[in-house]
Amino acid sequence: MRKTTVRKAAWIGGCLVVLGMMGASALSASGFQVDPAVERKIDELLAKMTLEEKIGQMNQYSSSFDLTGPPPDAGWGRRQYDDIRQGRVGSMLNVIGAEATRRAQELAVNESRLGIPLIFGFDVIHGFRTTFPIPLGEAASWDVEAVEASARVAATEAAAAGLHWTFAPMVDICRDARWGRIMEGAGEDPFLGAQMAAARVRGFQGADLAAVDTVAACVKHYAAYGFAEAGRDYNTVDISEATLRNVVLPPFHAAVEAGAATLMNSFNEIGGIPATGSVHLVREILKREWGFQGFVVSDWGSIAELVPHGYASDLKDAARLAALAGSDMDMEGRAYIQHLESLVESGVIDIKLIDEAVRRILRVKYRLGLFDDPFRYSDPDREKRLLLHPDHLKIARDVARKSIVLLKNDGELLPLSKSLGRIAVIGPLAADKDAPLGSWRGNAVPNSAVSLLEGVREAVGSSTEVVYELGVALLAAEERSFAQNLVFNTTDRSGIPQAVEAARQADVVILAVGEDAFQTGEGRSQTEIGLKGLQDELVKAVLEANPKTVVVLMNGRPLAIPEIAENAPAILETWFLGSEAGHAIADVLFGDYNPSGKLPVSFPRRVGQLPLYYNHKSTGRPGPSDMVFWSHFTDESNDPLFPFGYGLSYATFEYSPVTLSSDKLQRGDRLQVSATVKNTGSRAGTEVVQLYVRDMVGSLTRPVRELRGFQKIELEPGQSEKVTFTLTEKDLAFYTADARWEAEPGRFQVWIAPHSQAGEPVEFELE
Ligand code: NOJ
Repeated sequence: MRKTTVRKAAWIGGCLVVLGMMGASALSASGFQVDPAVERKIDELLAKMTLEEKIGQMNQYSSSFDLTGPPPDAGWGRRQYDDIRQGRVGSMLNVIGAEATRRAQELAVNESRLGIPLIFGFDVIHGFRTTFPIPLGEAASWDVEAVEASARVAATEAAAAGLHWTFAPMVDICRDARWGRIMEGAGEDPFLGAQMAAARVRGFQGADLAAVDTVAACVKHYAAYGFAEAGRDYNTVDISEATLRNVVLPPFHAAVEAGAATLMNSFNEIGGIPATGSVHLVREILKREWGFQGFVVSDWGSIAELVPHGYASDLKDAARLAALAGSDMDMEGRAYIQHLESLVESGVIDIKLIDEAVRRILRVKYRLGLFDDPFRYSDPDREKRLLLHPDHLKIARDVARKSIVLLKNDGELLPLSKSLGRIAVIGPLAADKDAPLGSWRGNAVPNSAVSLLEGVREAVGSSTEVVYELGVALLAAEERSFAQNLVFNTTDRSGIPQAVEAARQADVVILAVGEDAFQTGEGRSQTEIGLKGLQDELVKAVLEANPKTVVVLMNGRPLAIPEIAENAPAILETWFLGSEAGHAIADVLFGDYNPSGKLPVSFPRRVGQLPLYYNHKSTGRPGPSDMVFWSHFTDESNDPLFPFGYGLSYATFEYSPVTLSSDKLQRGDRLQVSATVKNTGSRAGTEVVQLYVRDMVGSLTRPVRELRGFQKIELEPGQSEKVTFTLTEKDLAFYTADARWEAEPGRFQVWIAPHSQAGEPVEFELE
């Protein structure tokens, strides 16, 4: 047996720490550190800066003029241009490319009084030019090395295009698939989310921020943005401090411990206080409790939005509240640049707060090496050489196939033979070269992904005929805009008869349905999360015409598709897999890669079950009961369609009962929890073995199960492996009724299982 990954993880002070990767000595020294030599340089620089120049560092604009063209004559572009030259801008976002970043940097460095370099930020969420699976998809790999490798490539390409800073990772825990931004995060679980967050930070930032192939990470959205009521983007959040600490914050803390240089405020309020103006979140928890030394940037206009929130009376008041809360940089809000100066001059804001914010920003600039050579990242040769480098595409294909989840495979329909007579590839997403790029596609070239159809055609032998039919278009209009609502096709069924005919004449059908790339992402919340348009009709007709149909889902959120789950013999969840989508899917369809992904999020049966998550509380009436008076729906089960942690393989795995090294755990001691996993199938396969824990009684009620570890193992047919997890008191700790992060004594249950609804627990006691 070869262990692909062995994750030993523990919760330390509310933060997940991956042991063995960072090493015990790294724990205390982890995080974005302060270097005394750099601090002295910052002191010197601060002493030379005027108040206006200091506030300039706290101001970020999104570029509104063509940096590679002549200076703008007038308007907002001209204002930005002049502001850069006057030292009134510390950062630009959306300036991309070696040439554009060089020109903007020249304005700051050569034409402003102190020549302080700009820091260029961009949303590199799942790849820059080479596109990787959407983050929700990557989380399905449960493979921290693969996720780190993906971020590493993204950083390499982004830095080669002159960028210093990515607005990623997005680490928002989300329990509601209506929220379009669920695609950007790692799903519903804080433990898995923390592992993914830390892996991405390591990947983006590498070992040295000053290296020309690393960028600063920005952990977002701080905090609880994924808990928007009804999953409606930007909506109100009202959660307890316990939920904040136990569920929302662990991935942020893990990312900070991994050394993240920056964080971004979220748009939402929590319990009446917008996050961007929250002293508790930013000053108390992030900067004081966690000792974060990097800087915090607002989200786009989120300082200005304190006004419509009804928290600030006007833009000046918003600037005051955000500065007091500890938001260091104003992204496109224009609040700081217009109002901070007078707030300081009138004594409302202490200059010390400004100095602290500027120090944090300059610290990151120094660490990026921008004061040594502000143009180091803007290198057209490197840009040309590295974007879409074949090695990057290879990594993208590897991560993509690891992200695929096999949801159903009745009668072992999969994997398919490469020498079938005829395969029909059908569906609105089958030949789509754009959808797999997702909605946060960085700098990807539109229509550049390998489509499923292309992947299938390349994979099969010359004796196999591959026919293609669209069936139904997903959208009514050909053109879709990033900023507009989509219009779905609900009338044009003209392609269904050909699709049915193609299905009838094929040995096997591969049917690709799901979502448009722009159905998820920012501003894309939905009240229904099934298949839009006429896709259900197409699926039904094709399944009737040929029951040997493999449904390939492409989507950015969990889908409620109970009929398909019931009727299709085989279902592959492929998310939006990026540049190499078609190759990766074909690898799995034809068995060149044995699927190993597991769901990082529960799939509901119906939207009415939302929010739906495996680590829910028991309630006082957990049921089931013959009478109606228990916590359930009368028209639908409480269970998900597919649970968190679920995913099949072409191998089959059998789990032995769980054994414990003792039924008591003393404080300071260790408990070994083991089970033997056997590959009972006929192919080698990879299994993500999951450890779950339940604290039976707490000073605050505890979830019915919580993921506390996983190991990814590879087993040959017939091979068994004893998998052991080590639990300590720290793994059992939580934010208690006493507002402390600690483990409480008492009974615990523990499972080793293939997913969150499987397995039999055993009990032990923490003394
Ligand atoms: C708004 C989004 O919420 C945030 O995630 C993104 O980084 C910024 N816009 C910048 O594009």
